[in-house]
Amino acid sequence: MRDYVGAIDQGTTSSRFIVFDGEGGVVGVAQREHEQIYPGPGMVEHDPLEIWRNTRAVIIDGLAAAGISLHRLAAVGITNQRETTVLWDRHTGEPVHNALVWQDTRVNDLVAAYGRDGGKDQLRARTGLPLASYFSGLKLRWLLDHVPDARARAEAGDLLFGNIDAWLMWRLTGGPEGGLHVTDVTNASRTQLMNLATLDWDLDILRLFDIPAAVLPRIVSSSAVYAEARIPELRDIPLAGILGDQQAALFGQACLAPGDIKNTYGTGCFMLMNTGGQPVQSRSGLLTTVAHRLGEEPPVYALEGSIAVTGALVQWLRDNLGLINRSEEIEALARSVPDNGDVYFVPAFSGLYAPHWREDARGVIAGLTRFASKGHLARAALEATAFQTWDVLQAMRADSGLAVTSLRADGGMVANELLMQFQADLLGAEVVLPTVTETTALGAAYAAGLAVGFWRTPADIVANWRADRVFQPRMPVAERTRLLGRWSKAVERSFGWVE
Ligand code: G3P
Repeated sequence: MRDYVGAIDQGTTSSRFIVFDGEGGVVGVAQREHEQIYPGPGMVEHDPLEIWRNTRAVIIDGLAAAGISLHRLAAVGITNQRETTVLWDRHTGEPVHNALVWQDTRVNDLVAAYGRDGGKDQLRARTGLPLASYFSGLKLRWLLDHVPDARARAEAGDLLFGNIDAWLMWRLTGGPEGGLHVTDVTNASRTQLMNLATLDWDLDILRLFDIPAAVLPRIVSSSAVYAEARIPELRDIPLAGILGDQQAALFGQACLAPGDIKNTYGTGCFMLMNTGGQPVQSRSGLLTTVAHRLGEEPPVYALEGSIAVTGALVQWLRDNLGLINRSEEIEALARSVPDNGDVYFVPAFSGLYAPHWREDARGVIAGLTRFASKGHLARAALEATAFQTWDVLQAMRADSGLAVTSLRADGGMVANELLMQFQADLLGAEVVLPTVTETTALGAAYAAGLAVGFWRTPADIVANWRADRVFQPRMPVAERTRLLGRWSKAVERSFGWVE
């Protein structure tokens, strides 16, 4: 009996395989971390072959954890860190360079040069995105310009480009022996090379960025049977869903109606609001992006507020400063003081993303006095996540005209109760955690399961979603206003560090 669906969740710090049952419950999980490679300031790379090895390993471990054989899977979906850019040789399967991770800022000069020519927002109407180092198009351009012979090999049709979804799909379906080179619309919408209206590559932008069309994958829907897997670990199982991880979380949180909104608290924070069948252009620094496309149905769009560094700041305190030994310890350290002691931490490590889009910003800690302790630093680091989320929610409120009094939350950091309560207090909105917090993998499983008829309609997804915990706002408005004023001042201090 095929009574489960699997999801490959390839994230920024780890790869996971999760098995779900028909109610969307987690039956088994396996996870492996991969190396974060920092070749210089602002640079972040991953080894695509390590990610591929880990993906294969977690499939085996995940099935074992679920205690099921491969043949119980009705389908498998893929969800992935978006924008991270891989360029590989179609004949050998070897990447020509490490993957350039979404947080990598090495294309800042290119961004500035294009910005000087036509303005930062010149591609917004067509792609929904401002010019920024974040997206994959200019990262691909960098690889073509800097890896010896890459451009000539790309033009000859010997190299293939993809975000991690395309890399994994090609590998899962045979790699050099006839692997399928596709990406879904949600991932394609993060390259800055896809036209939001046609859902196809935009030839003018390819010309502008000097990208040969021969390297690009075919753009497909987010839920369809693309192929059967050809590796032994998943032999003959239908690969039937692909969603970028934030769009997958929106889907897994059952945000299927216009106005539904979720925020995922991970390495970064990503707030997405379903805006229905029409792309809504932001006037407040948000991104317009594809939420999903099911089969041949029309696409659904979303507004997104992306924050580069939230949970990554806790990791930084752990790994670079040694302030804590394990990430979970941050909450106890932050609770060791009653408030932030007037210390504010703006983690603009990759510049600032939404709603500011300032490549020139760098991290600052503001308000230090001799009174400040490591407890205050921990608290300021946690609060930075909530403050940045407030900035993004204000933009959402402005663009959508909706008051937004309830926010669905997920991701690793939601285990932190201090943060969740502070978040509700700052937003003046309730923060709701679902029973299944593995929403990213669940969204990919739903996309795959719908394509093979394991779930019949999206209404099944809505029926499966249940609230678990709700944090209500309790902070007096005057206190909230005071804190937000200080935060905004600290953010201004981060601007203009890089010329
Ligand atoms: O846009 C980047 C995002 O997709 C990364 O998500 O959860 O892997 O940090 P995550």
